Amino acid sequence: MTALQHVRPHAYYTVQLPRSDDFAFWRERARALIQCDIPPDKVAWVEPGGSGDLFAQPSSGGGMRLPEPPADAPPVRASKRYLSLAKNAALHSDPARFSVLYRLLWRLQANPRLMEDKADPDVRRVEELDKNVRRDSHKMHAFVRFRQVEEEGGAEHYVAWFEPEHHILRANAGFFLRRFASMRWSILTPQGTLHWDGETMREGPPAQKSDAPQGDPVEDLWRTYYASIFNPARLKVGAMLSEMPRKYWKNLPEAALIPDLIAGAQQRESEMVAAGERDDGVRPESLEAIGEAIEGCRKCPIGCLDNRAVMGEGPSDAALMIVGEQPGDHEDQEGRPFVGPAGQLLDVHLERAGIDRGRAYVTNAVKHFKFTIKASGRGKRRLHQSPTAKEIDTCRWWIEGERELVKPKLVLAMGASAARGMLGKTVSIAKIRGQAIPLEDGSELWVTAHPSYLLRLDGDARNRQAALFDADLAAVRERLAELEGQ
Ligand code: URA
Repeated sequence: MTALQHVRPHAYYTVQLPRSDDFAFWRERARALIQCDIPPDKVAWVEPGGSGDLFAQPSSGGGMRLPEPPADAPPVRASKRYLSLAKNAALHSDPARFSVLYRLLWRLQANPRLMEDKADPDVRRVEELDKNVRRDSHKMHAFVRFRQVEEEGGAEHYVAWFEPEHHILRANAGFFLRRFASMRWSILTPQGTLHWDGETMREGPPAQKSDAPQGDPVEDLWRTYYASIFNPARLKVGAMLSEMPRKYWKNLPEAALIPDLIAGAQQRESEMVAAGERDDGVRPESLEAIGEAIEGCRKCPIGCLDNRAVMGEGPSDAALMIVGEQPGDHEDQEGRPFVGPAGQLLDVHLERAGIDRGRAYVTNAVKHFKFTIKASGRGKRRLHQSPTAKEIDTCRWWIEGERELVKPKLVLAMGASAARGMLGKTVSIAKIRGQAIPLEDGSELWVTAHPSYLLRLDGDARNRQAALFDADLAAVRERLAELEGQ
């Protein structure tokens, strides 16, 4: 008797999701079903309230009890790219999303490189779902407006009404928590509500617009908030207005202020820059505290874009610190350094050189993703932009803090931005790569190219640069072994 004999070949399975946004639940069930070899057309995913993928609904109505995966079932394969898209796509309001995600996961088992096939209809559909959800989150960050209400006892409470298109409320709780941690606030939506009392987050049932206070949003609060998403340094009036569809205007009584804001943009930009230069505060004393502080950092305009801070990761006493330029689109979405294409290439070369990434502290010279929006027939994309020397210098405050705490014996800076982040001046990689540069704390800096540079090359040029990169990494591994042995 094989382990799978309890799985009935022609049975249908209905999975009832506890919540419409419960990706973790979906993932666990999807893994078990794949390990039991249940094909996509035999599974129906049903959301609370009964809405599910009607086309996949079993004709028998009921569905079988879910089988247990056999103990020796092979692990389910899912690439990082799949997981990062799926996490967002699962929040879409499309009732078929869980079936599409399951089908793609199923197909990935036979074809692990499927996500690279940009023409595949399932890959494209999941990318589209992800894009719609990200856009909805972006709208929520930009258009939630708090109004002040007074509670019994005179305590201040701020309440906002928002109508998301997808199931994004819970996923965005952290964004509002980070920005308004010291206030008591509620966000009401037709799908559910969030309430923060300054200490704990509570969820509540769906609300109606009439439950929210009317009238002007709180001016000061709004200004602080708007400052966090309105980036004067990147002001593009046309793009800004196209980002503000009519649907949201009814919740934006302050839209009349926009001309003044545009007029004041120049001044605010210089204020931001000055704030970066003036900072002589005390640095947080732990890596966790730096992680929290960078989230709120607005010392340069990059921190004011719609992005999140990405903290370094790895052992807090690592002998090797690897420094990149700044998080990219993937890193911004996942909140971790070097997880996108450059990170994957880096992993290949580190492994080839015999350097264990898990033992290194991996971080970036600049903590936020700098990008510009590019609209094309395929929609809008966030295109990487290099940080300016001034932005790198402003962010040195944080990487110096990480270095003071981790105390690496050797720092490997990849690319010109990382080198500037460590040295405070611009250097030529070609001139100084492959040699130790003593740093004032007794550690050594080694400089090499950035893996994204290799990604931009092909043919012989790529092979030549890859060989130089490998040689640099091999030298670093040897020197590190010496330093660790001392
Ligand atoms: N490029 C970088 O410099 N850092 C990352 O984290 C990702 C890409």
